[in-house]
Amino acid sequence: MMLETPRLILRPFAAEDLDRLAELMANKEFMRFSMGALTREQTRERFLDKVIGWDRDGLPSQFAMIIRSSGALVGYCGFFHHEVDGKMEIEIGYRLDCAYWNQGLTTEAARAVRDHGFRDLKLDYVISLIHPENLPSRRVAEKNGMTLERQATFRGFPTFVFSITRQRWLERFS
Ligand SMILES: CC(C)(COP(=O)(O)OP(=O)(O)OC[C@H]1O[C@@H](n2cnc3c(N)ncnc32)[C@H](O)[C@@H]1OP(=O)(O)O)[C@@H](O)C(=O)NCCC(=O)NCCS
Repeated sequence: MMLETPRLILRPFAAEDLDRLAELMANKEFMRFSMGALTREQTRERFLDKVIGWDRDGLPSQFAMIIRSSGALVGYCGFFHHEVDGKMEIEIGYRLDCAYWNQGLTTEAARAVRDHGFRDLKLDYVISLIHPENLPSRRVAEKNGMTLERQATFRGFPTFVFSITRQRWLERFS
């Protein structure tokens, strides 16, 4: 499945994306508010193989963010599967090449992903896990119609849980 926005194509990842993805994930800015930069092997094991597996199994998954005008792969936006406070949750997560920050691109992508989740995948509830100090990411979640629901512990760190329910999406966005 491919999603389109005014400036972006969101398409499934392929094994051939490893070189560019590893380049992005080696960058400290791209990996801000995470455990840190990844090697090529870690990029494959911790991200690309998992995402391609979710696609193969028909599960909610990630999309490569492609700039329509240039064809450049500049980041990812889509779904992750995480256990939070003992419960499996579906998260919208995103990262973008810092050369493209603050142009509204991630907001554009996150909205398309959110609508896809509720409209096509019939999800009931979606979260975003955000470090309290990550103001740009909090802003993206807010612009995506999410509200701050609670604080949780995720991978040992305090994390804000932003969320939106299917009901709220139906009322506000469908
Ligand atoms: C989070 C991230 C994906 C946002 O991408 P983006 O395309 O720049 O986001 P957008 O342009 O759609 O929106 C960013 C918003 O944050 C705001 N913002 C940026 N820097 C800010 C700061 N220091 N303080 C407060 N707000 C800030 C922008 O003004 C904008 O809000 P606005 O439209 O109300 O003006 C990008 O910063 C990134 O990749 N960061 C590193 C990885 C990361 O943190 N990912 C999220 C993990 S939960």
